Amino acid sequence: MKIINILGSPRKKGTSIRIAKSFTDAAKELGASVDNFYLNGMNYSGCQGCNQCHIKFDHCVLKDDLTAVLNGMRTSEIAVFSSPVYMGDVSGQFKKFFDRTWSQVNTEYEKEPAFTSRLPKGKIAIFILCQADVEENHTDIVERYTRFFELFGYDLKVIRATGLSSGAPDEDVSSAQKKALELAHELIKDR
Ligand SMILES: Cc1cc2nc3c(=O)[nH]c(=O)nc-3n(C[C@H](O)[C@H](O)[C@H](O)COP(=O)(O)O)c2cc1C
Repeated sequence: MKIINILGSPRKKGTSIRIAKSFTDAAKELGASVDNFYLNGMNYSGCQGCNQCHIKFDHCVLKDDLTAVLNGMRTSEIAVFSSPVYMGDVSGQFKKFFDRTWSQVNTEYEKEPAFTSRLPKGKIAIFILCQADVEENHTDIVERYTRFFELFGYDLKVIRATGLSSGAPDEDVSSAQKKALELAHELIKDR
């Protein structure tokens, strides 16, 4: 099984990367292969709005470090997407990547539905979102991004870690890490 792990936090020892690692470590033990993409260390442009991915091609025409990530979304069975909450949204690094996923849908405005996924069916996405604020706040972020993950056709699992700073002690992150580990066992054991 192939997994891609897209890391939206610049903090390598931060909360979201620790939770994503719990998932991928368990997945590797269960035999999966994992490709890690640490967005903060990659060179890529934001979407240029050229719409070539809809006018002429079925993929993004920009060639940079995101090309492998966008291809990986098509070839992996599970994609892990993680980000801290920055200013009421995902991190800038994650948003700049996410805009480029516009190339993962067909747009046929005269049809119903107007948008269909270009990803092969049957894929799973895990969205890990970490924030300092309480659980009741920032629920809109999950709702907004869920719409797009579902548009891509993913069976979506969400792990939120709330009330945590980036350097939160391991014992405070452990319940979200346990969730990630259990999810790895649940998703990978039957495949
Ligand atoms: C620039 C910046 C903006 C932030 N904005 C928010 C925010 O709007 N709401 C919130 O709950 N936490 C906010 N935080 C806190 C982070 O979301 C929190 O520390 C998170 O656990 C960090 O995750 P990470 O360790 O994976 O990077 C912000 C942190 C930074 C550095």
